[in-house]
Amino acid sequence: MAQRRRPKITIVGAGNVGATAAHWAAAKELGDIVLVDVVEGLPQGKALDLLEAGPVEGFDVRITGTNSYEETAGSDVIVVTAGIARKPGMSRDDLLKTNYNIVRSVVEQCARYSPEAYLIVVSNPVDVMTYAAWKVSGWPTHRVMGMAGVLDSTRFRTFLAMELGVSVEDISAFVMGGHGDEMVPLVRYSYAGGIPVEKLLPKETLDRIVERTRKGGGEIVSLLKTGSAFYAPGASVVQMVEAIVKDKKRLIPVIAYLNGEYGERDIYVGVPVILGAGGVERVVEIDLTEEERAAFKRSVEAVRKPLQTLEL
Ligand code: NAI
Ligand code: 2OP
Repeated sequence: MAQRRRPKITIVGAGNVGATAAHWAAAKELGDIVLVDVVEGLPQGKALDLLEAGPVEGFDVRITGTNSYEETAGSDVIVVTAGIARKPGMSRDDLLKTNYNIVRSVVEQCARYSPEAYLIVVSNPVDVMTYAAWKVSGWPTHRVMGMAGVLDSTRFRTFLAMELGVSVEDISAFVMGGHGDEMVPLVRYSYAGGIPVEKLLPKETLDRIVERTRKGGGEIVSLLKTGSAFYAPGASVVQMVEAIVKDKKRLIPVIAYLNGEYGERDIYVGVPVILGAGGVERVVEIDLTEEERAAFKRSVEAVRKPLQTLEL
């Protein structure tokens, strides 16, 4: 019988999001995991620590940590969480350029060792970094994508469930657009147990939930003070990894390349897609009202502006 190897998942950036994603991916036995970071000892230490949880939790995957890219060779999926947070005195443009340089060097090295992989970008500003990663890799657009919509939607779903006092399992809802204050939580396409949430909650409550979703990342930052969210981001990226390695054909929001869909071209932004073994297999176009379309357009413009400053 031909030997089938386990999928190989590389996670670059062994910080909060990267290590948490490794944790969820190992617990789900999605494949062997390689953690990469520039800090010596950090990926090795976290990888070994996580590996040692295997006997207790009962997962059988190989987990390695490294500061170089040789060990990532032949990866099926690569998740990029490498980056730095904004520091005092640093403008948004400074941060943009710093993280661009990091993402560029990471993607160049990953592409050299795993030319057939699927790439999921997490580093912020994520819509712009996903476009940059696509340019740097030279890969087809269906193999390069970004994570934000799953996270924004899981926040939206959490707040709806809290307000309704029902299980999160019964809430389906999703958010389109760029990962910023202009994101577009789609109330009209959100349901609790199959019932439109507009029939269950007054408009003022829904408006408040939409606003809280838009500011969801900032809410965590202001509580943590020293960093940003990582549990929900880690879980969200792993949902995408799982969709690819198990060919699940999930219909979820992903930062995907638009070539005419939703009237937009040459941009990466959050839209519903079918995600499976072929990566972004299809962008799903849904009907939007005039107001929703205008909100999506505003969100796309908020992504285009910083993208233009990079002159890619
Ligand atoms: P963190 O600071 O905990 O981890 C980042 C890691 O990247 C650090 O360990 C650092 O040493 C490493 N790193 C820096 N330069 C590197 C390089 N050239 N090669 C390899 N590793 C490198 O940050 P955290 O909380 O894990 O966030 C990571 C990124 O993800 C940030 O840009 C953050 O804003 C973003 N993020 C995006 C989300 C999304 O929805 N797209 C959600 C949450 C975070
Ligand atoms: C978040 O939404 C910081 O983008 C990150 O939590």
